[in-house]
Amino acid sequence: MLHSIPTLCGSIMGQPMSFNVRMHNAAYQALGLPYTFVCFGIDDPVAGVAAIRALGVRGMNVSMPFKQAVMPHLDALDATARDIGAVNTINNLDGHLTGYNTDCVGAVRALEEAGPLAGQRVALLGAGGAGRAVAYGLRGAGAQVTIFNRTAERGQALADDFGLRFGGGLGDFDAAGFDTVVNATAAGFRAPDMNPLEGLLAPHLLVMDAAFLPLRTKLLRDAEALGCRTIGGTRMMLHQACGQIELYTGCARAPIEAMETALLDEIRIVEASAR
Ligand SMILES: NC(=O)c1ccc[n+]([C@@H]2O[C@H](COP(=O)([O-])OP(=O)(O)OC[C@H]3O[C@@H](n4cnc5c(N)ncnc54)[C@H](OP(=O)(O)O)[C@@H]3O)[C@@H](O)[C@H]2O)c1
Repeated sequence: MLHSIPTLCGSIMGQPMSFNVRMHNAAYQALGLPYTFVCFGIDDPVAGVAAIRALGVRGMNVSMPFKQAVMPHLDALDATARDIGAVNTINNLDGHLTGYNTDCVGAVRALEEAGPLAGQRVALLGAGGAGRAVAYGLRGAGAQVTIFNRTAERGQALADDFGLRFGGGLGDFDAAGFDTVVNATAAGFRAPDMNPLEGLLAPHLLVMDAAFLPLRTKLLRDAEALGCRTIGGTRMMLHQACGQIELYTGCARAPIEAMETALLDEIRIVEASAR
């Protein structure tokens, strides 16, 4: 079997980002494993998959905009990745590349830290890649999901694909009909610092934002000011990374505490350098 010394894992994406590098390397160090994680900014996802094979890369995360493009070039797809239609994780076992989607389990595990999802009325904002993964996970966990999306056709298509309800645009959200709201739109990530549900929140809601930069997005800050319980995007990111590390190393439980410390440190550095 092709392999490297140390064992190489990594990430392919359009623009390289440091968050996964810090988080994954902290995990491997805590596990005492001779693994190194590197982020590759690339423009050719097919060549990226070929490089996994040529170099014997043990595991490769896949980020935007390549989550669909890599799929036909893998040897197998896990059922969750196939149903969602996107791969964020490639597990290389003896040259056999299998695509997974851990965004889905990341969102579910993050939300279930606050309580069971079965029967919960969840408003899901967004119908892009993250929205699809979260919708699939929420449905599997037994939540009653309503999709809201800026572009109606895309929101309706996601609802139809997974047998969910489409509630309209973000302005159609009515807090009285829901227990939980999850923002999986790109609104509020990095800039501008905006709340996609400005003036529409209510104190009884559990509010999760998939966006993790800034650490406390305006949606989360507004929700906290009202007295809502909140979950930041870092919890989803940590849990999806745990799923990847468990695949790449075979460990039963990724060291989430060490990973969280590393991720929060990195986000604070990135936030400070952006000021
Ligand atoms: N925490 C994590 O682990 C994690 C993992 C994956 C993604 N994310 C985050 O999830 C978010 C979405 O990522 P993605 O990969 O799904 O992106 P994407 O595929 O590009 O989809 C973007 C979504 O955001 C909506 N949108 C964009 N700008 C908007 C605005 N100004 N107002 C209202 N809606 C807007 C789009 O609506 P239209 O259909 O109308 O264009 C679409 O539903 C990002 O913030 C990303 O960082 C977090």
